[in-house]
Amino acid sequence: MWQVLTGRKDGRVSFASEAETDLPSSDANFTTLLSQFTSRGLDIIDLVTLSGAHTIGTGHCFMIANRIYNFTGNGDADPSLNPDYAKTLRTLCPISPNLTFTAEMDPQSSLSFDSHYFEALNQNKGFFQSDAALLTDTRSVQIVRILQVPSIFFARFGESMNRMGTIGVLTGGDGEIRKNCRVVNV
Ligand code: HEM
Repeated sequence: MWQVLTGRKDGRVSFASEAETDLPSSDANFTTLLSQFTSRGLDIIDLVTLSGAHTIGTGHCFMIANRIYNFTGNGDADPSLNPDYAKTLRTLCPISPNLTFTAEMDPQSSLSFDSHYFEALNQNKGFFQSDAALLTDTRSVQIVRILQVPSIFFARFGESMNRMGTIGVLTGGDGEIRKNCRVVNV
């Protein structure tokens, strides 16, 4: 648990195209990820810590199909992937998967919010290339190691979530307090 600032308003418009351009993509490399975070006032510690949100939830198989079946165009897996994990992923995500197929992002621990994501990452079991990318920079490698300690991850995660909550806050006459959080007020 962590304390949050209250009073953040919702917008009155949303564009799918903005999500396409603003959200980091699953095959982003470290440089791209870091610049996307820093351009919004977040730093390298926030990037690594918030990636730890992938301790819960699933990712769609089609997004990693190239990574596990045809990384360089020669029918190979991403060499940065733990070979046993690559094998497991090929079982969970058969070739040409149905678009609805998903797999856990944090292997065998995707229902619990813990620091296991960082332990898995350290064993080269990052689900997306964007997860694995956190091992390609010497500074983020150190941060990944430190965040394996649950108490440190939990404390840092709250701080970084708050920092993320300060991005693009609507002030003055912009935005509104919704009556129903899923739709703009009519
Ligand atoms: C660092 C850059 C990030 C990238 C490239 C990224 C990418 C992705 C992708 C591709 C998925 C799977 C979507 C799907 O297959 O439907 C996903 C899922 C998810 N992401 Fe991220 N993400 C990032 C950061 C974050 C952050 C900052 C958070 C929250 C603090 C977060 C929380 C989640 C959660 C909870 C899911 C699982 C959703 C579900 O199970 O339905 N991610 N992410």
